[in-house]
Amino acid sequence: MCIIVKILFYRNLFMYQYLLTSSLWLESFVKKEVQKQGYDIVEVQDKAVYFKWDIDAVARMNLWSRFGNLLYLIVGQKKEILDFDDYFDAVFDIDWDKLIPHDFQVNIKATSIKSELGATPTLQALAKKAIVKNLVWDDTLRESPERWTIDIRILMDNNNLKVLLNTSGNGLHKRGYREMTWEAPIKENIAAALVIISQWRFKQPLWDMFCGSGTIAIEAAMIAMNKAPGMTRKFAFESWDWLPEKLLETEKTSAKSKEFSWEYTIYASDINKHVLESAKRNAKFAGVDAAIRFQLMDYKDIINKGIKGYLVSNPPYGERLEDFDVIWIHKDIARLFAENDNLQGGIITSHEAFEWYQKVKYKKRKLYNGGELCYFYRKM
Ligand SMILES: C[S@@+](CC[C@H](N)C(=O)[O-])C[C@H]1O[C@@H](n2cnc3c(N)ncnc32)[C@H](O)[C@@H]1O
Repeated sequence: MCIIVKILFYRNLFMYQYLLTSSLWLESFVKKEVQKQGYDIVEVQDKAVYFKWDIDAVARMNLWSRFGNLLYLIVGQKKEILDFDDYFDAVFDIDWDKLIPHDFQVNIKATSIKSELGATPTLQALAKKAIVKNLVWDDTLRESPERWTIDIRILMDNNNLKVLLNTSGNGLHKRGYREMTWEAPIKENIAAALVIISQWRFKQPLWDMFCGSGTIAIEAAMIAMNKAPGMTRKFAFESWDWLPEKLLETEKTSAKSKEFSWEYTIYASDINKHVLESAKRNAKFAGVDAAIRFQLMDYKDIINKGIKGYLVSNPPYGERLEDFDVIWIHKDIARLFAENDNLQGGIITSHEAFEWYQKVKYKKRKLYNGGELCYFYRKM
């Protein structure tokens, strides 16, 4: 065999399949970040990006995913599963002995879409039986509360089975820098997406006049500095002893060497001093405090001072403030964008009346923030 053929042969031999889940309408972001790592995309569906690569991707993709939700390793798949016997055998045949220790805690969740086997409680119970039988050959599962939990996800889609292991643990939007949150915090991966959608140029000032926990400013700084978003958190796969040693450590060292810094001008302000203090602490945890200038200020004072660059904000909306305040805030922002030619960017809001006040063109993009349908309005 020539060298190239040999490399391809061994690469395929050690290829794993992965699923990186996504929030609805962020799939293109997730796909791009997978491609950026050089991985091969297999398929993109609603809320799902499938790709393949070697085992290193477990650490690298968890560490680097800014937009994804959970990274699953596909440990088994079989087409045309039409009865429970076939289903049981397919789950049983997986090499569980290699994947999980005997005294594990196992958490199984099943989803079934357009499939003969639609009863998810039965799918869950049978999967657990099959795993237990594979591991100990009797029905007494020795779960130990001291050990870690392994999240297994069963997916039946058009009679095709996929068995998935959650390698991330908690959702990847939980970067680990937010010690506490206040009113209506935006999810970190949505905040990161807003920074990209706003088309912020890193050398220009960026403003968040309603910073709350500081999420948008922190995510913007991390993007500008090319900081891997998962550096300060834990992942489920860290306790799996079958993975190569130092997998995460190696990726973290490599990620650290890719960081860079510049003189960024990122302004984050809020009217609430307690909220602002926690935003400062969050930025410190994230290691980006030097890049952000925090100010305790009413947005009106900032507008009056005059701003230029990019505004990316998540103003109060919905029923959380008096309607009167919400209306004025949105009217003021619409006027600010209309009258200030030196200001780009946009806001995320579910306050539909924002559209009535607009005097410039916006590109409107649908997003879900914590289950709530919102729009990001980017000034064109
Ligand atoms: C929806 S929250 C922002 C959440 C933030 N994106 C986060 O991730 O935590 C809106 C924020 O606007 C602030 N706010 C309300 N009225 C304000 C005003 N007049 N000027 C400045 N900030 C104000 C609130 O204190 C609150 O933190």
